[in-house]
Amino acid sequence: MTDKPLLEARDLARHYRVSQGWFKPKASVKALNGVSFTLQRRQTLAVVGESGCGKSTLARQLTLIEPPSSGALLLQGVDAAVADPAQLKALRQQVQMVFQNPYASLNPRASIETTLGEPLLINTRLTKAERRERIEALLALVGLRSEHLRRYPHMFSGGQRQRIAIARAMIMNPAIVVADEPVSALDVSIQAQILNLFMDLQDEFGCSYVFISHNLSVVEHMADDLMVMYLGAAVEYGSKKQIFARPLHPYTRALISATPALRPADRRERIRIIGELPSPLNPPSGCAFHKRCPLAVPRCAVETPMLRMIDQRQVACHQVDP
Ligand SMILES: Nc1ncnc2c1ncn2[C@@H]1O[C@H](COP(=O)(O)OP(=O)(O)O)[C@@H](O)[C@H]1O
Ligand SMILES: [Mg+2]
Repeated sequence: MTDKPLLEARDLARHYRVSQGWFKPKASVKALNGVSFTLQRRQTLAVVGESGCGKSTLARQLTLIEPPSSGALLLQGVDAAVADPAQLKALRQQVQMVFQNPYASLNPRASIETTLGEPLLINTRLTKAERRERIEALLALVGLRSEHLRRYPHMFSGGQRQRIAIARAMIMNPAIVVADEPVSALDVSIQAQILNLFMDLQDEFGCSYVFISHNLSVVEHMADDLMVMYLGAAVEYGSKKQIFARPLHPYTRALISATPALRPADRRERIRIIGELPSPLNPPSGCAFHKRCPLAVPRCAVETPMLRMIDQRQVACHQVDP
């Protein structure tokens, strides 16, 4: 038997119907427009791109919060679209989410013990003492103490609240955790601690991460694979090492050159992206990036580039030479 990926997305798309005002026909926002990737056990896939490129929409598909408009999502080899209710329940337990804002994602009226104990109460037959033991062990792993259990979310700092949200995602020992900008709302001084915590927990539990960020430097150390998204689609996808060593898509190169910590001394050129992310309501013709691209030629305005294998990663650009 071949080793099936833990998660596989095949041409996953999500379009939203939106009203454009009275008497106007509804329009379709292509928030996610055909994304494919695989995730293996103990691996971290980083998904990076500007605000509005479809990262949170992807996260909602992966965590089964919302069904895709088209394409397929396979979790542990099971197609989520054809799973029966019992299978879906099991799959949902296997994919947990950590949100950007831990204040909004924690119930303000529930103590930490209640928040962490609820999934165990509902889904397991553990006794009260066993639940308590499991909660305390996990609490120690995320850097909190048992006297914190009786406290409420507002009594914690932002970083501590995110530790609690991470503990809640981990309590059922999921195979996959989807983290949507989990450090973006935190002080820079706290961000590295939380990133280290994610890595320690992966060592401890062997889970896989889909780690979403608009900031490449955040994912530099944790990612195995990297997917750079632009306007609902991947423009470059492959091993982080390969892409950081030699980014090929002009958008990836611009992102890397705009991130000071990542810019090697010998790569002085600063590639500027001009203009703003176009609206997915009215995407540009051809390559979605062509209006902002320093390398664009007339062909780019007409013909949409497909992902193709170049130098051991996938790139969607007409101008990149093999
Ligand atoms: N429920 C929705 N209805 C209509 N448009 C949406 C909805 N959710 C997201 N969008 C649009 O889809 C695009 C991608 O959004 P999102 O996935 O939140 O991007 P990101 O997380 O990368 O900032 C945006 O243009 C956003 O306005
Ligand atoms: Mg988002």
